[in-house]
Amino acid sequence: MSHPVDFNDRMLSLGLARVSEAAAMASAKLIGRGDEKAADQAAVNAMRDQLNLLDIAGVVVIGEGERDEAPMLYIGEEVGNGNGPAVDIALDPLEGTTLTAKDMPNALTVIAMAPRGTLLHAPDVYMDKLAIGPGFAKDVVSLEMSPTERVAALAKAKGCAMTDITLCVLERPRHEDMVTELRETGAAIRLITDGDVAGVIHCAEADITGIDMYMGSGGAPEGVLAASALKCMGGQMWGRLLFRNDDERGRAAKAGITDLDRIYARDELVTQDVIFAATGVTDGSIVQGIKREPGYLTTETILMRSKTGSVRRMVYRNPVK
Ligand code: FBP
Repeated sequence: MSHPVDFNDRMLSLGLARVSEAAAMASAKLIGRGDEKAADQAAVNAMRDQLNLLDIAGVVVIGEGERDEAPMLYIGEEVGNGNGPAVDIALDPLEGTTLTAKDMPNALTVIAMAPRGTLLHAPDVYMDKLAIGPGFAKDVVSLEMSPTERVAALAKAKGCAMTDITLCVLERPRHEDMVTELRETGAAIRLITDGDVAGVIHCAEADITGIDMYMGSGGAPEGVLAASALKCMGGQMWGRLLFRNDDERGRAAKAGITDLDRIYARDELVTQDVIFAATGVTDGSIVQGIKREPGYLTTETILMRSKTGSVRRMVYRNPVK
């Protein structure tokens, strides 16, 4: 049998949506049950099963962790049935395990697919992130600017006062100084307890979400997923890996990263066309969470392709056996 080599993103995209829907449905029973691990495991199992049905020769480049830490969907695991194009897969079967366990907003299942070798193999370390939505001049803000300078530059570009800017920041002790500085600008800050993939995506739909800019550090793997989404929706993003010790620097070396201070722009995190799917687990401003009715589960998925810039929202009602 001859195998197609092209990255036929149009044909593959519905399959990708099914993968993220399956993960969300599997975690449905565990929303609000206080068990992060069980919720994550259910999503992992379902995502892996669905992924292995796809006509792809996939390799997980952003996954559940290194092979010795994660038995399933580990970095380097081959996924798909092998009968299709060679692709990189970045995934987070449950982005917001705590959000799910506590039934708090914006938990998502997330997956991105791109031609082999085109997603940054980000190690499991932190990444300093900065993102804004579409419609601004290139590099209007940057990671080199101070938080205050970023707010001032974005306000100027938007033609508004700094007090009219709304930022999204993960609420963490490590961000306290930054938040104190940002308070001085008068900008509003939406502090989120988890889920910075959603945090970044919010910038792409500022008119709906009210978020103009995302900043702060979070997981580097989530940074590649967020960059995939922004590449489809429009918007700019930058990321710089942060290393706290030699073990983390070793992880970078293992991933083939030599320049530890490099700032990656969105299209360096994701260098070619990508497809991205995310399904709501709990309600959020991007997609609705899973609805459970007697006999049915209903999910909402956002499915996007960077080649066309198409953004689909798909509602799926599935009978529960
Ligand atoms: P999990 O779903 O794996 O728990 O990740 C949630 C998350 O909030 C991410 O969105 C974010 O990138 C990361 O954790 C931040 O890490 P930390 O909690 O260590 O600050």
